[in-house]
Amino acid sequence: MKNNNMNSPTRSAIRGAALTFTGDPFSESADSVMHYERDGILVMEDGLISEFGDTETLLPTLPDDIEITTYPDSLILPGFIDCHVHYPQTQIIGAGGEALIDWLDKYTFVAEQAFADRAHASKSAEIFCDELLRNGTTTASVFCTVHEHSADALFESAHSRSMRMIGGKVLMDRNAPDALRDTAHTGYDESKRLIDRWHGKGRLLYAITPRFAASSTPKQLELAGSLWRENSGTYVQSHISETQQEIDWVQTLYTDRNGYFDVYDHFGLTGPRSIYGHGIHLTNDEWLRFHDTGTALAHCPTSNQFLGSGLFNIGKAKEASRPVAVGLATDLGAGTSFSMLQTMGAAYQIARLAGADLSASQALYLATAGAARALCLDDKIGTLESGSEADLTIIDLKSTPIIDYRMQFADSLEETLFVLMTMGDDRAIRATYIAGDLAYQRD
Ligand code: GUN
Ligand code: ZN
Repeated sequence: MKNNNMNSPTRSAIRGAALTFTGDPFSESADSVMHYERDGILVMEDGLISEFGDTETLLPTLPDDIEITTYPDSLILPGFIDCHVHYPQTQIIGAGGEALIDWLDKYTFVAEQAFADRAHASKSAEIFCDELLRNGTTTASVFCTVHEHSADALFESAHSRSMRMIGGKVLMDRNAPDALRDTAHTGYDESKRLIDRWHGKGRLLYAITPRFAASSTPKQLELAGSLWRENSGTYVQSHISETQQEIDWVQTLYTDRNGYFDVYDHFGLTGPRSIYGHGIHLTNDEWLRFHDTGTALAHCPTSNQFLGSGLFNIGKAKEASRPVAVGLATDLGAGTSFSMLQTMGAAYQIARLAGADLSASQALYLATAGAARALCLDDKIGTLESGSEADLTIIDLKSTPIIDYRMQFADSLEETLFVLMTMGDDRAIRATYIAGDLAYQRD
């Protein structure tokens, strides 16, 4: 008989097919870096994964009274990670007809002004976090607005759900409406206060967030670099090389600098724990500098399609001689979906159009372990291995009649993943776990 008193009250388990990455499918064969259990058990204890293995071996070792939830016709995955998203733009998804700069002026800067109202920000943050969970996304790197309290609102919503969340107040002291501009010094002070309030509280992390080089003065970028150096463990997030028009504009604003990457690099805003959205039109020298500095890119395929920004070349990013850390991202509200499955599908289609290859397992890596690596969080999230934080998404492999039918003809794991990536969406998320607790259940 097993001693019930030995059980921690927070210990529970789930059972089903499960998949996680143990390495990088861009540098090794997918088979060699995927840990797949056809009938697996995952034990969760105090918010962490304590054991993961095949049921036949693990089940006999577990106490008789441990609660085990079984998920048939499912795939247990690490929670999805969205490496770049704007929560205040939830209200303008699908506001179209413009390219980047006009889209910012016409829709984004209008919507973001409403966040001067704290109640509006709080409501938007609540909807945003619920929608992440409904889509199986357990961590995101999030842009707020210029308003300090817009970041408070995000962190409060994420904290109350125990989510591991990165976020930051946008810094913007030029080329934006008056109501959305801070100054180099107020931006620094407000970000500093937010770091003191939130960075390292529970599972929250702060990202210093200059919107992009075009909307910050050199002084603001300089102070952003200082703030980053002064606060260890914080992040930097911004945008780079999304459209040619933007690149040309940045060059006219920073005539002393040798290109877009060089602007950020000059102000000390590159290196591990910095992540830049897009990078569609980087030069060869810039790819090399991303690699050399350990700076990460967030690939935002549905956004790039929606705004017509161009075709990100994942093959170029992963060139064996100088691979760059890449994570997948929605970039909502230019991105058109919260679903990382749909985002993976768009990444695949963009790769085809760019003349690159992207397998389903590679796309899944970019949304889980690869994203964690891009965010320097691979010791905490993105895998199912023991010691990881127990953030999970449970995929329904029969979420629609046509997927159910199509799956009957999938005769390998890679093909199953391909169908999931091509046809799956929010309906495929059966459940989402945060730190070992059920945080969303579809049915
Ligand atoms: N570049 C600067 N700001 C933004 C933004 O809000 N969305 C996108 N897609 N690109 C940007
Ligand atoms: Zn963005």
